[in-house]
Amino acid sequence: MLRTSSVIVGLEIGTSKICAIVGEVNENEELNITGIGQSRSRGVRKGEIVDSGRVEEDIRVAIDEAEKMSDVEIRSVYLGVTGSHISCLTNRGVHPVASVDREIMSEDVEDAIKNAKAVRLPADNEILHATRQHFVVDGQEGVIDPVGRLGSRVEVDMHVIHGNLNRLQNPIRAVKNLQLEVEAVAFSGLASALSVLSPEQRKMGALVIDLGGGVTNFIVYGSGAIKHAGVLAVGGDHVSNDLAYGLKTPLQRAEQLKVDYGCAVVSESTKGQTVTIAAELGVPAKTINLQHLHHIMSSRVEEMFQLIEQDIAATGLLNYLGAGVVLCGGGSRTPRIQEVAERIFGLPVSLGRADSISGIKSALDEPEFATAIGLVRFGSFQEKRKAVSPGFTQTLKQALGGLLRRAML
Ligand SMILES: Nc1ncnc2c1ncn2[C@@H]1O[C@H](COP(=O)(O)OP(=O)(O)OP(=O)(O)O)[C@@H](O)[C@H]1O
Ligand SMILES: [Mg+2]
Repeated sequence: MLRTSSVIVGLEIGTSKICAIVGEVNENEELNITGIGQSRSRGVRKGEIVDSGRVEEDIRVAIDEAEKMSDVEIRSVYLGVTGSHISCLTNRGVHPVASVDREIMSEDVEDAIKNAKAVRLPADNEILHATRQHFVVDGQEGVIDPVGRLGSRVEVDMHVIHGNLNRLQNPIRAVKNLQLEVEAVAFSGLASALSVLSPEQRKMGALVIDLGGGVTNFIVYGSGAIKHAGVLAVGGDHVSNDLAYGLKTPLQRAEQLKVDYGCAVVSESTKGQTVTIAAELGVPAKTINLQHLHHIMSSRVEEMFQLIEQDIAATGLLNYLGAGVVLCGGGSRTPRIQEVAERIFGLPVSLGRADSISGIKSALDEPEFATAIGLVRFGSFQEKRKAVSPGFTQTLKQALGGLLRRAML
């Protein structure tokens, strides 16, 4: 088996499926997907592990499949993490310029960044991502690079995504138990955005919503930087649960009905239409009214979008989403879901595709793979940073060290 340093693997331990994607970065920094491995997921609820044994078995299946397809031996992964414990804040770091001539040096900028990272998080929480938004020099907002300017005060706004340390450790531990290294962890919603948003969309401002099975991850970009992120502990599974309850049918059947006949909008054209499901294994045949089915689905989908809309409206960011809303994740396959999102957000809505990445088309076209593909992209950025700044590997290892060390206990 081949192993080159440019091979990067993204792993998503999702609620519905576990997915490993292998990518290779060429000398022009173009990403090519060369392998994909997938398995059912039996030990995850709402994006978090509840049965480690089963999860480890399922990860192994996905990794083995990805190895076979890409013909590489997988030794390490970039791992996606999610869960309702993940949230975010923006913190401003301030630093008085020390030099007599008031020229801002890179050390001043680093100190401002260090101060911005010294944020008070809820007890037991750890920083997952701390990203720079913009600098302020002597009150002037929106400075891109303060080094070399004159000023007496440098400030920087950092966006911090954080989560509960113990809950972040569980997926790391599961991977390490399989003798695989974790190169770095990334919030799954951030990874999805890296796969479906172009740099232009990130600059214009966009909201990415990844509708998964157990959770809905969302993230807002503006001026090229992360502005907001969150996790709704509700996903496609809850739509199926509602259908099972409302249609008085077993969950598995409700899931099938959702995929085969689902729609996020109740339309006049389906009035009076029914579908009959044949009897099977002790479950009698049943006739379902399509409008009833669509009504149950639309209520839940609307509620999910409303919760996200309220969260983002509270940050004042809704008016800065020039590139609109981009949907991905398995739930984005729901027919007419775009229309519902357009109505609730009052913005143009599109379905995300990993357009900037080449390789196995069947992987790139599936909205479920946005997170795992984005993790490969995230990995490629990390590898590049390692290459240009030798100290970065150390910083990364230190940042991850806390998470990994505790995960080994
Ligand atoms: N055609 C479809 N219509 C509606 N929902 C669908 C369709 N196809 C798949 N889904 C739903 O998509 C969800 C799975 O999506 P995905 O694979 O992105 O989740 P996941 O990544 O495993 O979970 P999570 O990210 O929440 O941990 C399931 O709830 C499934 O029912
Ligand atoms: Mg997912």
